[in-house]
Amino acid sequence: MKFFVDTADVDDIRDLASTGLVDGVTTNPSLIAKSGRNFLEVIPEICELVDGPVSAEVAATDHETMLAEGRKLAGLAPNVAVKVPLTIDGLKTCKALADAGTKVNVTLCFSPGQAILAAKAGAAYISPFVGRLDDISSDGMGLIDEICTIYANYADFETEVLVASIRSPNHVIEAAKIGADVCTLPPGVLRQLVGHPLTDAGLAAFLADWAETGQKILDS
Ligand code: G3P
Repeated sequence: MKFFVDTADVDDIRDLASTGLVDGVTTNPSLIAKSGRNFLEVIPEICELVDGPVSAEVAATDHETMLAEGRKLAGLAPNVAVKVPLTIDGLKTCKALADAGTKVNVTLCFSPGQAILAAKAGAAYISPFVGRLDDISSDGMGLIDEICTIYANYADFETEVLVASIRSPNHVIEAAKIGADVCTLPPGVLRQLVGHPLTDAGLAAFLADWAETGQKILDS
């Protein structure tokens, strides 16, 4: 399973990328606004911090302008993946960009039918939003299960399932059980995955016992 981080905060990305656990980054217009950074400046900066794909989302809603924006974003760095919304114009743009060799992440997916269309349009990634479905008492993880099942039926569907709108470590675990390709994690959720009170308590006990021995592993 690949881990992307879902943020445009360069400090967070740098910190988490240093762990070697980060395979890519996703951003969206809300995350760019939250960062307070200039979109066209921050995307190349992020692309320098990770080897994998960095999703940068178009802002237009009509095909022609989306395509022009997508081409511009793809030119910012070799590892940009252009993100388009799941609309007819977004799917047309996805097809055109994918045919030209650009990776496209189709976002705002809330149904299996939408995911089929994205695969047919040549998307590199489909982004179903699990948290936002759970928020309205729908079944976010059920959608991931359905999309993974459908995609597995067709060898010509090469689209990866990128689980988005993740709210907790449990979402990551459930997505991994289903076999989703990628989770994009808010930095806080990635850090939450590390922690366990028994790890903390166990380490404290080991360190106390070690101190009692008076030994050292290194000379200085
Ligand atoms: O980047 C798309 C997605 O992960 C957004 O998550 O928390 O705004 O629903 P959220």
